[in-house]
Amino acid sequence: MCGIVGYIGEKKTVDFLLDGLTKLEYRGYDSAGVAVMEGKNIFVEKSVGRLDSLKEKLKNKTLNGVIGIGHTRWATHGRPSDVNAHPHTDCHGNFVVVHNGIIENYMPLKEGLIARGHKFISETDTEVVAHLLEENYTGDFVDAVRKVLSLIEGSYSLVFMSRENPDVLICAKQENPLVIGLGKDENFIASDIPAIISRTRNTYILNDGEIGIVKKDSVKIIDRQGNAIDKKTFHVTWNAEAAEKGGYEHFMLKEINEQPKAVRDTMSKRIAKDGASIILDELNWDKKFLDSINKIYIVACGTAYHAGLVGKFYIEKLARKLVEVDVASEYRYRNPIVDENTLVIVISQSGETSDTLAALKESRRLGAKTLAITNVVGSSIARQAENVIHTWAGPEIAVASTKAYTTQLILMFMLALYMAQINGTIPADRLKELICKLKKIPAQISETLSDVDPIKTFARQYGFNEDVFYIGRSLDYCVALEGALKLKEISYIHAEAYASGELKHGTLALIVEGVPVIALATQKSVYEKTLSNIKEVKARDAIVIGIAATGDTELEKYLDHVIYVPDTDELLIPLLTVVPLQLLAYYAAITRGCDVDKPRNLAKSVTVE
Ligand code: G6P
Repeated sequence: MCGIVGYIGEKKTVDFLLDGLTKLEYRGYDSAGVAVMEGKNIFVEKSVGRLDSLKEKLKNKTLNGVIGIGHTRWATHGRPSDVNAHPHTDCHGNFVVVHNGIIENYMPLKEGLIARGHKFISETDTEVVAHLLEENYTGDFVDAVRKVLSLIEGSYSLVFMSRENPDVLICAKQENPLVIGLGKDENFIASDIPAIISRTRNTYILNDGEIGIVKKDSVKIIDRQGNAIDKKTFHVTWNAEAAEKGGYEHFMLKEINEQPKAVRDTMSKRIAKDGASIILDELNWDKKFLDSINKIYIVACGTAYHAGLVGKFYIEKLARKLVEVDVASEYRYRNPIVDENTLVIVISQSGETSDTLAALKESRRLGAKTLAITNVVGSSIARQAENVIHTWAGPEIAVASTKAYTTQLILMFMLALYMAQINGTIPADRLKELICKLKKIPAQISETLSDVDPIKTFARQYGFNEDVFYIGRSLDYCVALEGALKLKEISYIHAEAYASGELKHGTLALIVEGVPVIALATQKSVYEKTLSNIKEVKARDAIVIGIAATGDTELEKYLDHVIYVPDTDELLIPLLTVVPLQLLAYYAAITRGCDVDKPRNLAKSVTVE
């Protein structure tokens, strides 16, 4: 995810900016830039790639300015490049802005600004903010910022700098973190505490809707209406390592907790304002195109493959198209039956997985239409596929994938709805109902995350078992596979997922007294059958932990432990049931003393065969 820094004081700002950005490198980025007030002008330098290339560009420049802002970018809108890197300026270099997050309504705003004569140089959503500031500035910087904030929609943390107001930086927060560090005759702004921790531990942690007016010797916090807010300072006690993880013990736990935001970011810009349709600007598909497709392959590895299994379910059910799912390492050598009437969808968080990339190339060679779903703009897979839709999860650092998976599920669901819209395979009221339920998912994930104590207890109780089984039917089975993988990869416990109905064909022999079984029972269409399977394992004295939707009163009659997730449509519930399974794996790994973020024998991105 992007990183933001800002400085106003008496020292050379560029020193802090580069140091602060270096401290944020762990978050991942693809380009970087700084803006420094030099006399009456704002000097801007940016560079694609590592911070070192920005430092190289700055090497022979003498920058004495004492006010400045800096940014490391993780591309969302527009590929990684010098031009797309932040800071962004208006037409005349009077205003400069850095931004984390997504401006959801940037397209109509940009069209309006262009029509009124503004010249854009980047592909980013952020640049509209600088031009809007130019358009709304009538001499009062704070008022202009407030006006701009009333025009933009989405999630952001923003820092603004103005040539005419060289004694102040203004920052604003909405659903992206922003902190103001308080020094003596100097103040700092950062998206994350690690950037400022070596300079000060006294901070204001901004809340949504708050605006900071930061001068070298004063900080004022106001709300959107301009009213002053009496804010308490927050003294940071974390060490640098804990600060990187936002106070969480591990990146994995941080990323599990980032899921409500990641999911929201990925979906919100793609839902029509009236909530009646899905907009996928990246695709220009029509009925003729979909009619020409007689088969869809979804190809991926690991967790992304599990997202593909859910995707198959969505597309077949909603868009009524035949889908096959394959692991990339098998598909690429299988001489797959693929031609110009096949659509191949590859899913890859990193966009660099060697097997998935090879499968994509092979599909193109065979003439298939290709679509990539990836989290990394400008990655090899994004560049090779004809069409790309990005998950906007932000960088995932822990090896075990969590927020990438849930955002992949979101996109598979939206893609299926989009295809169903075109195909006419979904009635308008059902579409609206599903979109309405989809919009509630981020809040429902937060709700699921708010009660982790029972999960911790189970993990402690069963964390030392050697085998765990996960069972479920239909979409519950797909999630069971992902739950078992999570447990295996970080706790090293042998875990297997089974389609509940398949247990009786062999594996039931392994279900004996005391074996833990995690039973997912949320699919209403197969609920009775699932219940029978649960009774079968219970009858063999397994310890069964149920995962059910709130309102299910049946399961707890048979089981000792049931973990409830909020109720939603059975199509969407995988987004909720996977959360306790991620947490269960996490706390089991902790119980066993495993290195959660860097499990043995695994890599985050597998670029070899
Ligand atoms: C590795 C990672 C997994 C990931 C898989 C596919 O195995 O450890 O977490 O799911 O690669 O990665 P991708 O980047 O293609 O989604």
